[in-house]
Amino acid sequence: MDHFEYRGGVLHAEDVPLPVIAAEVGTPVYVYSRATLTRHARVFRDALKVLPKVHLAFAVKSNPNLAVLKVLAAEGYGADVVSAGEMERALAAGIPAADVVFSGVGKTAAEMRRALAVGCGQFNLESEEEGIELAEIAASMGLVATATLRINPDVDAGTHAKISTGKAENKFGVPFDRAGGIYARLSALPGLNLRGLALHIGSQLAKLDPLEAAFTKAGALMQAIRGEGFAVTHMDLGGGVGVPYKAGDVFPQPAEYAAMVARVTAGWDATLMFEPGRVITGNTGVLLTEVVRVKQGALHPWVVVDAAMNDLARPAMYDAWHDFSAVAPTGPTMTANIVGPICESSDTFAMAREIDVVARGDLAVFRTAGAYGATMANTYNSRPMVPEVMVDGGKWAVVADRIEPATILSAERVPDWLA
Ligand code: LLP
Repeated sequence: MDHFEYRGGVLHAEDVPLPVIAAEVGTPVYVYSRATLTRHARVFRDALKVLPKVHLAFAVKSNPNLAVLKVLAAEGYGADVVSAGEMERALAAGIPAADVVFSGVGKTAAEMRRALAVGCGQFNLESEEEGIELAEIAASMGLVATATLRINPDVDAGTHAKISTGKAENKFGVPFDRAGGIYARLSALPGLNLRGLALHIGSQLAKLDPLEAAFTKAGALMQAIRGEGFAVTHMDLGGGVGVPYKAGDVFPQPAEYAAMVARVTAGWDATLMFEPGRVITGNTGVLLTEVVRVKQGALHPWVVVDAAMNDLARPAMYDAWHDFSAVAPTGPTMTANIVGPICESSDTFAMAREIDVVARGDLAVFRTAGAYGATMANTYNSRPMVPEVMVDGGKWAVVADRIEPATILSAERVPDWLA
């Protein structure tokens, strides 16, 4: 459910007609609905109330906008971060360092030092090598780093190969059958307080079964490790719950996910940690765009919009589907290809799609663009960095400026020897 609805034939974000935002900010622009964000944050949080001890860490990578993080901080979310940059954003939004989980396969020594200095709550270690390095750095600072060990459960998440993370051939975590030994060795290090296991098998999961299989394996490993006399008080179950991108698609509801977790983890006696991203932010945003022109095609017309793969990379990268709707549809539909202006064929949002009839100058949106949208944007083809707007009832504000090519150009230098 979201708060992007037609009123009087015009698509609104909450109480704000989208043409108002287009006129003032220009297009393309991401538009977020605060009410939708808050709702999703609460639905997920409330669903997990069936579990005894829960820690929620929003996956910042899915939408790191400061205003978005502020809303989630107020809803009691911690942060799952994968870089110092994401960590600084979480702290700037007021998320306590103690509620920050630092994930990622390539944390640098500088990032570890910074995270330790601010009191980062937990490091999710991706390897024995990383654990040894973190322990040394913490000890050199007179600190003890709190950590979990990320395991690779070798479970097929059944999602797109580029966003699968829990198969043995993926770079993430430590091999399942070596995890017990690594846990024992890392537990002996004075700079480390190893308190549990972590896993995350992939993103945009359409089914709960792979998660259940992975959690079940993790639970067995947890008991085995405890049997060896080591403490396991925290189990980080990651993120990955998918959302429908196509009208009519059915995905697991947070309550079903929570019921599955409750069943699998009954008797674990551990704090369960979660790193939801897309399920919180996916539906909270649209990418608002204007039709530049409609060009005749061999098979279907090409609807050329002013958004491109640099603004929304998901279709180009993962063949992802984003529903396309006219902001003021006239009723009839047409079959068309939707493309951006970038000079490569991967800049294609949809082929042979049945869409609202649109013409030059019309506004339209790509829906479900709140997760992995603006955060993956870049300036390829020397296009501007796409801006972001947040709506709250009848109010709205620009929450990230459009960064013009001139600003980016001003950061470039021609060396003396070329002048
Ligand atoms: N935790 C870890 C360790 C992760 O790597 C991720 C996502 C999450 C949590 C959050 O997963 P979520 O709940 O959002 O599924 N750019 C891709 C998605 C990449 C996801 C990477 N990791 C896309 O646009 O589909």
